[in-house]
Amino acid sequence: MTVKIVNLKVNGVDKALMAEPGTTLLLALREHLGLMGAKRGCAQGACGSCTVLLDGDPVVSCLVPAVTVDGAEVGTVEGLADGRKLSDVQRAFVDGFATQCGFCTPGMIMSAEALLDRNPDPTDDEINEAISGNVCRCTGYEPIVSAIRDAAAARRRASADTASADTASADTASASTASANTGAGQEAQV
Ligand code: FES
Ligand code: FES
Repeated sequence: MTVKIVNLKVNGVDKALMAEPGTTLLLALREHLGLMGAKRGCAQGACGSCTVLLDGDPVVSCLVPAVTVDGAEVGTVEGLADGRKLSDVQRAFVDGFATQCGFCTPGMIMSAEALLDRNPDPTDDEINEAISGNVCRCTGYEPIVSAIRDAAAARRRASADTASADTASADTASASTASANTGAGQEAQV
């Protein structure tokens, strides 16, 4: 059987692994790279527990042969937190009690991340559509939809705060430049 070297950028870090043709991306992540966040549920593309981002798009990694994604960027749930600080989606799932046994949670969160990356203000229908391939056997879906709605709102607030801070900083820089120019003009007149 031909073994191929597969190079991936996983959560921003370059990785290389040896994969046989039957090695799935899920298997590569879990068993070759030790990233156990994506879960093996059905292994048939039906439950979504193995969802990761492949070049920004959500995929069921149990159906993706690793040898076909050489050179790709992969995002997993392990890459979301900043040290001990949870991402906005992770925080919303915790605060909204949107997880019970947790088996579906990494896949749900990655589907939510993909949605909010392209649509910062989704409707409930759009949220339902985004997680339509993710099955939860525990909580029911309302806390999950609610958590994604809350994460979207938190992300919009953070984005507005950043834009406002940038404007204030640009205004300060502009005032400083004007002041320096005025001062330079005064010196020139002396
Ligand atoms: S384990 Fe991949 S979809 Fe169920
Ligand atoms: S929290 Fe148990 S399967 Fe979703």
